[in-house]
Amino acid sequence: MASFLPSWSFSFLFTSWMLVALSRTVVAKVVYRPSPWHLAHATFYGDETASDTMGGACGYGNLFVNGYGTDTAALSSTLFNNGYACGTCYQIKCYGASACFRNVQFTTVTATNLCPPNWSQDSNAGGWCNPPRTHFDMSKPAFMKIAQWKAGIVPVMYRRVPCIRAGGLRFSFQGNGYWLLVYVMNVAGGGDIANMWVKGSRSGWIQMSHNWGASYQAFATLGGQALSFRITSYTSKETIIAWNVAPSNWNVGLTYNANVNFH
Ligand SMILES: *[C@@H]1O[C@H](CO)[C@@H](O)[C@H](O)[C@H]1NC(C)=O
Repeated sequence: MASFLPSWSFSFLFTSWMLVALSRTVVAKVVYRPSPWHLAHATFYGDETASDTMGGACGYGNLFVNGYGTDTAALSSTLFNNGYACGTCYQIKCYGASACFRNVQFTTVTATNLCPPNWSQDSNAGGWCNPPRTHFDMSKPAFMKIAQWKAGIVPVMYRRVPCIRAGGLRFSFQGNGYWLLVYVMNVAGGGDIANMWVKGSRSGWIQMSHNWGASYQAFATLGGQALSFRITSYTSKETIIAWNVAPSNWNVGLTYNANVNFH
């Protein structure tokens, strides 16, 4: 192009293109929106302390320490999507049963666990989480917000909603000197993660692989380097970078907070 046009026009075109690219960046800021409402059923597990909901299949460990509290649910495998649904948020309302609380619109829960199938039970009589059923096995405190717990199971309407989180992404480290396993928590927006990369202060970007639940791993020696993470949202496909989340003296067993999050 430069050989056909005087150099001033090239720089003009380039500047215009830059402005378009910049304005697009602003317009393209991805905000996750609620899904339509769907029918499903909900049960509950554990008691009113919700202690049975700790240490679930997403790997969030203690849900009080990590900010999820008791507003949580285990998803049937159809919804759980092999752990990629960990961290997603749902509004759930009891629908059309006498056990429903009439003055309650809905309650909001985060997916923190898997409700596994039980093929020794009929899918319509106890095997509520058997595929292809979409089912929410809620913490008892969450269930008790929408229905009388003695009902055991109620029909519900649910929809995916953006996750509202205070503060940035949280990265909880496990593994050893050759293997970094990172649990990602407090994810806002879609709440879920499709891909993740790690970068040490003396290395390039290393793609991490999905391990289980909300954890990602890199087989790399990253000790003594400050660590940054690049994360792509499963739902919105947006990618954000959390620079220097962990200092060079990072350690497994610790959780590091970023100052960025999805929307
Ligand atoms: C599956 O259902 C059977 C029959 O009700 C029950 O005995 C068993 O404990 C269940 N398994 C699990 C893992 O819950």
